[in-house]
Amino acid sequence: MKVVVSIGGSVLVPGIESPRVPAYADVLRSLGDAGHDLGVVVGGGPTAREYIDAGRGLGANEIELDQLGVAVTRLNARLLIAALDDRAGPTPPRDHETAREVMRRGDIPVMGGTVAGHTTDAVGTALAEYVDADLLVYATSVPGVFDADPGENESATRFETLTPAKLVDVVADIGIDAGSKAPVDLLAAKLLQRSELRAVVLDGTDPEQITGAVDGDHEGTDIIPQ
Ligand code: UTP
Repeated sequence: MKVVVSIGGSVLVPGIESPRVPAYADVLRSLGDAGHDLGVVVGGGPTAREYIDAGRGLGANEIELDQLGVAVTRLNARLLIAALDDRAGPTPPRDHETAREVMRRGDIPVMGGTVAGHTTDAVGTALAEYVDADLLVYATSVPGVFDADPGENESATRFETLTPAKLVDVVADIGIDAGSKAPVDLLAAKLLQRSELRAVVLDGTDPEQITGAVDGDHEGTDIIPQ
């Protein structure tokens, strides 16, 4: 199976010495050994937010702040590359074409961000669309897509399945509330809607769930095209 995994930075690198980096490398290696073709995109997490806040304090504009964010996503990507050793391409690809070439060669491309104006959720979705992936996994800090913010509302329920159109509605609604965090960003949801991709949103704090998603047995939300 061809699988793209988008790993939230706060999931992979909540702190610089994160044990999740080797844990993710183990899971990705095992999936590779089982014959799956893999592509990975890594987010910036708390370190990106610290740099962005510091840059804002210095008067940087929004594009400059995005550029700081991209730089941190690539640093995080390099940590995972270090842990994957010769299974990964040696540097984070700067564009989707290069990532696709690395995949064709049989290595795992580990991307960070690309250009200003979006997040790594969108980069991962575009990579999955570009390489014609069978499955896209969003490994996030929430265990799926909920009908309300589970941190704020005890009665929030998780969707077992969603259409991409419904995902766009849910994410757009969450985006309106200041301070709330969507499980997947709106551009990623729109890209999913135009593609025929099958996707899963799951709790990335347990990397084994990625294997579960590939095997069709997980506790997240399935996004199934109409
Ligand atoms: P993330 O993808 O990590 O943002 O990119 P996020 O989803 O808010 O955070 P986590 O990792 O899931 O916790 C960090 C920042 O880098 C810039 C944006 O400013 C983004 O908020 N970025 C990232 C880009 O401008 N372009 C990209 O392709 C990726």
